[in-house]
Amino acid sequence: MERTEFKEYPEISDSELEAAMQFAVGSVVKNLGTFTDKFQKAYSENGFYQPIENNYWTTGFWTGEIWLAYEYAKDHGMAKEAEALRHAGEVQIASFMDRIVNKIEVDHHDMGFLYSPSCVAGYKLTGSQMGREAAVKAADQLITRFHPIGEFIQAWGAMDAPENYRLIIDCFLNLPLLYWASEETGDMKYRDIAEKHIHTAVANVIREDYSTWHTFFFDMKTGAPDHGATCQGYRDGSAWTRGQAWGIYGMALAYRYTEKEEYIDIFKNVTEYFLSHMPKDLIPYWDLEFTSGDEQPRDSSSASIAACGMLEMVKYLPENERGYYIRVAKQLLKAVYDKCAVKDYKESNGLVLHSTYSNHSPYNTCNHYGVDECNSWGDYFYMEALTRLMKDWNPYW
Ligand code: GLY
Repeated sequence: MERTEFKEYPEISDSELEAAMQFAVGSVVKNLGTFTDKFQKAYSENGFYQPIENNYWTTGFWTGEIWLAYEYAKDHGMAKEAEALRHAGEVQIASFMDRIVNKIEVDHHDMGFLYSPSCVAGYKLTGSQMGREAAVKAADQLITRFHPIGEFIQAWGAMDAPENYRLIIDCFLNLPLLYWASEETGDMKYRDIAEKHIHTAVANVIREDYSTWHTFFFDMKTGAPDHGATCQGYRDGSAWTRGQAWGIYGMALAYRYTEKEEYIDIFKNVTEYFLSHMPKDLIPYWDLEFTSGDEQPRDSSSASIAACGMLEMVKYLPENERGYYIRVAKQLLKAVYDKCAVKDYKESNGLVLHSTYSNHSPYNTCNHYGVDECNSWGDYFYMEALTRLMKDWNPYW
């Protein structure tokens, strides 16, 4: 199962990890002036993020970068920076509390993306009671999107519309919030819903060849599986790269929570599909349909997300299987660091270039934005992957 051609690629070294993280932390600290009361837009424009209100599905990633930078600063005796970062994290938690109390743009499934790297992280790192309370409210909001007949959490739109009766692969990353809420409150309703969703998602979004559907529709009356469709991928039958990466991380998390042996196998096969479709330079194209030499945008964020998933999964694999995934994660990170990481603050106020949010094609339904730019989850998961490679990290997810 190990990919022999990966042996040729260099791995990120300890000194490169250190340099990459120092730059990232420096960038986050430098940007606190603009992005404490405000949040980063989902994607940069010509390399620069504009400030926005806390009203989009992506704002938790910036707060997550603040917390990762805080951890680094604290671990490295950077007391002044740690203090400034903690203050900014707390200001942002207050904003997330306001958002959930006033139900500002929370009628979708991305409560985990929003509240795990911001409020759960703040609670785990500093004991923030506001973070805890806001995150439990977000979990309550998320479970309102559960369909008992189809046994899944609906991603977007009105709950009574058949055209919205679908789940999407990205939702795997929203489920840790539910497991966390059950652990915190002792109420198993959150976990039970997460478990049902995992079961439905695994049974339907993963195809026979271990490529993945971005979204999957069900019959509203019976809950029976109906059909897969893409939104952000190139076409229905292709594999949207970030969806595949969410699948890798998702299967690692699904195993962590359920300990179902078959999920290990699915993790390995989904990862294998991703790796076998990497171009020679290891910076993934936005859809796995494309390969070396194609004139198509890249999605560097998928490399970092996949690396984080592998580094999560190695914790549960036998000793003799860990080395391969650690090596591949380091190789992906080396490629991202060398070819995509911002190295000069004048070039960008983000961290990782050459990501793609949403690339319109003749066969998909998505808008066209954030193509070949930084995006906030690309930056966040890059920092998470660096952190995972530098220490025994307690996940926010
Ligand atoms: N969760 C949406 C995306 O990955 O673009």
